[in-house]
Amino acid sequence: MNYQIIKPERFGRVELLTISRPASLNALNSAFFAELVDYLDYVVTDEPFDVLVITGEGKAFAAGADIAEMAGLDHEGARRFSERGQQTFLMLEDLPIPVIAAVNGYALGGGCELSMACDIRLASSNALFGQPEVNLGLVPGYAGTQRLSRLIGLGGSLKWILSGLNMDANEAYRIGLVQGISEPEKLIEDALALARRIATRGPKAVRAAKFLLRKGFDMSFQKALDMEKEHFAELFNDEGIEGMKAFLEKRKPSWEL
Ligand code: CAA
Repeated sequence: MNYQIIKPERFGRVELLTISRPASLNALNSAFFAELVDYLDYVVTDEPFDVLVITGEGKAFAAGADIAEMAGLDHEGARRFSERGQQTFLMLEDLPIPVIAAVNGYALGGGCELSMACDIRLASSNALFGQPEVNLGLVPGYAGTQRLSRLIGLGGSLKWILSGLNMDANEAYRIGLVQGISEPEKLIEDALALARRIATRGPKAVRAAKFLLRKGFDMSFQKALDMEKEHFAELFNDEGIEGMKAFLEKRKPSWEL
């Protein structure tokens, strides 16, 4: 597929994907979703790199679902619109590799929801987060009502979603929505540095750790512990042997197994 809106750039074992529709503040339209689904299919199938970083071009990460497209929907169309966004962001969240959102500006509505489907959020100091749907007489439709409370708790989520207020990067950091703040000109460098750090750890261990954290979160504690035990043991047939041997031999591990 020839992409018009998403721009992938490879940096070794890390890929930077830029959403590029700056004239509409990267509002998420149908063409964006078609491209993202195609791209995620390719990433799941080929796993051609170890960490994905997502950012936006210009002054927005993404200013939400495309309101011009949404405005023409009827009841059934709106249901499908919501479901498409939910399913696509689930595909993103379920990628076996870690995904970092480098939030460079507005992350509102669907844009905030996109960032929350990523595993880690780094924000530029001028980023603005929010779920302003109630200002339009709507509710978040791309899992915002569920992911925000899982990330920051129910009380804060009720405050932000019911008021439709936006929060700045400092507030987002204070409440745990973002995991780091960078100066705007350093954001991509910092996000790529974190991505490279992750990409040079044990690749199977990183994938297992993401899986355990993500899947275990919605399971009973004991079931999640059983799952953790199995994955822990599995790595002793595999790259864990090399990692521990390298430590004892005071050398860098070689993960090519
Ligand atoms: N959809 C479609 N177009 C959008 C957009 C959106 N979500 N956000 C911005 N744009 C467009 C504007 O219409 C404008 O286009 P024109 O130049 O053709 O008029 C262009 O982007 C620039 O926007 P502004 O002139 O408004 O820029 P600003 O700097 O004055 O304001 C802003 C920036 C505060 C982000 C403002 O654009 C805004 O409030 N945008 C809407 C944010 C929003 O409500 N997002 C939630 C959408 S609903 C949703 O996402 C539902 C869901 O969960 C599925």
